[in-house]
Amino acid sequence: STLLLLNGPNLGILGRRQPEVYGTATLDDIESAVGARVAERGWKVLSIQRESEGELIHAIQENYDSVGAIVNPGALMMYGWSLRDALANYPAPWIEVHLSNVWARESFRHESILSALASGVVVGLGALGYELAASALLELVSPAGA
Ligand code: DQA
Repeated sequence: STLLLLNGPNLGILGRRQPEVYGTATLDDIESAVGARVAERGWKVLSIQRESEGELIHAIQENYDSVGAIVNPGALMMYGWSLRDALANYPAPWIEVHLSNVWARESFRHESILSALASGVVVGLGALGYELAASALLELVSPAGA
């Protein structure tokens, strides 16, 4: 079984991107941590990071058979309507993650157009948020889906 780990624009440079806001963990670190969390269930992690919305949509469409997804949409949280449509058609549970506490930041980050479709949202806990989302998906996805 495959868990889809999807990261949007500007998240490939984690560790070197405003570390005071996003922390020092790299995307590699996050992939490893998520992989370790789900290994007990025998899940593999397919990590895809893209700068453009269209490529993220392809990644979703090509992985409908994944058991669940963790999605950090980056700034697409605010205007990614076609990403939203793609997620609406994604058949398995998915969780939205933001490293930073978006509500403690600029007001344009206060509303995510995606969140209403997510099983849950993890915000402001840095890289740990991805691990918590992975643990939540282990609970949400029935053992039959393992
Ligand atoms: C982010 C928050 C977004 O508002 C921002 O555009 C990002 C990162 C986060 O993980 O905190 O790119 O999704």
